[in-house]
Amino acid sequence: MADAQEMASRLDTSVPHPARRYNYWLGGKDNFAADRESGDAVVALFPSIRTAVIENRYFLRRAVTLLAGELGIRQFLDIGTGLPSADNTHEVAQRLAPESSVVYVDNDPLVMVHARALLTVAPGAGPTSYIEADVRSPEHILQEAAKILDFSRPIGLMLIAVLHFIADEEDPHGIVSRLVSALPSGSYLVLSHSTGDFLTPEAVHAFRTGAIPVYLRTHDDVARFFDGLQVLDPGVVSISNWRAEQEPEPLSGRVGDGNGLRGRTHPVVGMALKSLAVPLDADAVRAIRADPELWALASEQPPFCAAWGDEPLPDISRALLAVAPAGAAWVGHFGDRSFQQAEYLLDPVAYRAEARTWKERERTTAYRIVAGDEAFAAHATSGQGFAWRCSSAAFLATAVQRIDALDVAAVRREFSVAEMDHLGLYKVHREEDDDHAFARVLAQLRAFAEHCRGVAARDLDLIITLY
Ligand SMILES: C[S@@+](CC[C@H](N)C(=O)[O-])C[C@H]1O[C@@H](n2cnc3c(N)ncnc32)[C@H](O)[C@@H]1O
Repeated sequence: MADAQEMASRLDTSVPHPARRYNYWLGGKDNFAADRESGDAVVALFPSIRTAVIENRYFLRRAVTLLAGELGIRQFLDIGTGLPSADNTHEVAQRLAPESSVVYVDNDPLVMVHARALLTVAPGAGPTSYIEADVRSPEHILQEAAKILDFSRPIGLMLIAVLHFIADEEDPHGIVSRLVSALPSGSYLVLSHSTGDFLTPEAVHAFRTGAIPVYLRTHDDVARFFDGLQVLDPGVVSISNWRAEQEPEPLSGRVGDGNGLRGRTHPVVGMALKSLAVPLDADAVRAIRADPELWALASEQPPFCAAWGDEPLPDISRALLAVAPAGAAWVGHFGDRSFQQAEYLLDPVAYRAEARTWKERERTTAYRIVAGDEAFAAHATSGQGFAWRCSSAAFLATAVQRIDALDVAAVRREFSVAEMDHLGLYKVHREEDDDHAFARVLAQLRAFAEHCRGVAARDLDLIITLY
């Protein structure tokens, strides 16, 4: 009882917590109003945050796969665990090497509660344990971890998206160096950290002074965490560029798949701007066509690509920007994150399958129809960069068909504000009754179908939409 009371007092839901806010961005349900409010404040500063956190999870998975696979690491110390999500460290490691042992460390009591309940370990797998501790107390962490991990054998130290919560005065570099010094040779440090390199000084300042202070650091500051260590290729780079050749996995129905594009010698390329498809006879597109590598990127990427700063696809992105009419802007069809409600409306059954991973979700037609549109429109309006998406005309036609074919009466019976709320869909308008909410989301979907119709009518094989 005393424990429960103590826990309740520490689980203050009126103040935002990093783990719950992160869970909010990842589309989870383990968050409270304060976390969502703080999450939305960050979205206003950095609209691509959702893409960034998803990329961060993919990075985590790739890094653990490398360590547990090729590099033979069997022990992991994961500090700043986060709420359980798809592909947690022990799951990825134990899939490859069941005997792997993992010690999780986090300073959020809610993370600990969930971790104990949800981070289940497969029968026969190595031990997984949890320490509630602060990364600012490396000695304590090392002492506790040594009860489970063997510090005479290599360890993978994971500090993923946690050090930006540590202020300069708290000496994050000293903390890392203390932790690393305790590891035997053959160990690895895996670290990701938010950067302000692509943001304005005002945005960097706003992060630092927000409800959860985040200390964005430069590339060089982050690289210094690896001082004295041998850094694997490709060095300290954006998470989405780190050994990401196989990411994202090919989506079914992607451009070039089964729609005849591949076999044609002269596919027609167009660009859609402001909901209007403009057949493009511009040098940039010809240049893209002429360069087999760029063309492969343009035609083989899954439909959504974001780029900021000098991030992925700079050549093709710059080429596209160069031909965009001045002042081109995009108005998203699903404002206020209501794309998730549209996704739910398009396929409530799939949306209820809570156990699915993000990857599985992203593969659904419903997600692909509605989600990228909103996310990248938000990104574009941020002024931090721009995004583009390639869609085959065939895919847009599928979107239209899917929306047109909605059995409105049947979906209406399935649709409820209460369930959306329960599923943690963002921005459910609680004051709305089911009828109003249904009509609103349906109208958004239909407007989007109109847009797709307009684009598809241009008889283009590949549509590049610039946001
Ligand atoms: C952004 S989440 C990252 C979760 C996970 N590592 C990932 O990358 O998906 C940051 C996590 O670090 C934890 N955290 C923040 N400050 C911490 C600190 N001083 N000591 C330990 N954990 C901390 C938060 O509670 C949260 O779970």
